[in-house]
Amino acid sequence: MKIGKYEPRYPLIQGGMGVDISGANLAGNVAKCGAIGTIASVGIAHKSSYYLSGEHNYFDANELAIKEEIANAKKIAGSEGIIAVNCMVALTDYDRQVRSSAEGGADIIISGAGLPLRLPDYTKDFPDVALVPIVSSAKAASLITRRWEEKYHRIPDAFIVEEPATAGGHLGATTIEQVYDPALKLENAVPDVVRFVHDEMKCDIPVIAAGGIWDKNDIERVFSLGAKGVQMGTRFACTVEGDASDRFKQAYIDAKEEDVVLIHSPAGLPGRAIKNPFVAKYLEGNVESKPCFANCLSHCRYRKTRETFCIAAALVDAQAGNWETGLFFCGSNVVKVNKVEKVADIISELFD
Ligand SMILES: Cc1cc2nc3c(=O)[nH]c(=O)nc-3n(C[C@H](O)[C@H](O)[C@H](O)COP(=O)(O)O)c2cc1C
Repeated sequence: MKIGKYEPRYPLIQGGMGVDISGANLAGNVAKCGAIGTIASVGIAHKSSYYLSGEHNYFDANELAIKEEIANAKKIAGSEGIIAVNCMVALTDYDRQVRSSAEGGADIIISGAGLPLRLPDYTKDFPDVALVPIVSSAKAASLITRRWEEKYHRIPDAFIVEEPATAGGHLGATTIEQVYDPALKLENAVPDVVRFVHDEMKCDIPVIAAGGIWDKNDIERVFSLGAKGVQMGTRFACTVEGDASDRFKQAYIDAKEEDVVLIHSPAGLPGRAIKNPFVAKYLEGNVESKPCFANCLSHCRYRKTRETFCIAAALVDAQAGNWETGLFFCGSNVVKVNKVEKVADIISELFD
């Protein structure tokens, strides 16, 4: 799996997980073991002294904190380690997050939760930074490619095809019903995107499958569909090196099938999460939100109409392990988590 000029020892990306579920420690350790480690840029300022000291506003602090996080991840990863940053299109300061990731030395920028139509513009001074959109269909891949070719004379360095029926966090579907659309299953979407890359783009950039990948068999299954790599989130969230609190990881260990639910996120996308007291109240229609502190989403139902809840506050609470008030995003594979694993053990189990 070669992405731009980067070729990791193993064809695996640890997916970006916000807020601060995949920070410098997880990403750095994954990269050190020969896969690609990804920092989630979303909300990274919340724990930084730049923001907490009151010296910088949230958006300025995000920029500084992203650069610091990349430097810390690279220190752990060593000179050969490959570090990506995941920047979500839906964020208010998306352009600034992308620019500061490139300036901070990210090798790859991975971008979903919307179509990253202007991504090459934000990284034009950094031609070595590989750009990877996350899509759920060949139609989205085609839209992005056409726009990039026309406006920026550049094509994506890879596509990540993420399946809404199994993945964690925000899902690439417009409605909850569409989450289970058979056309978006990896079995259909991966060969569709592979065909698009070969027949229409006439190139060989890797197509990487994400959503519901847990073990070697899953990797072989998606490779037989034409994928050249995998992106995994949920299994890496519950690792010793994972940046979340122990209580967050315990919530993963405890989660049963009936606890995994879909919700409408304030961003207007469906999301998959653990049904804890906070989510249960939200589903019943009587959740109490913490105040908006960051204006983090460009379209936020909570900020606009006070419907739903402040997602930044809820994700920060989950990361810290506040079971009553947090939003614990997870993939459907969370039911397979039964212990806190070590990154090196997962990678050697998958690729030995
Ligand atoms: C807790 C959590 C947070 C996530 N946050 C993000 C994010 O900030 N941006 C993003 O593009 N994907 C996010 N994802 C998706 C993952 O990067 C990954 O692609 C997906 O979870 C893969 O499916 P899996 O969890 O079944 O392996 C998140 C997933 C989880 C579980």
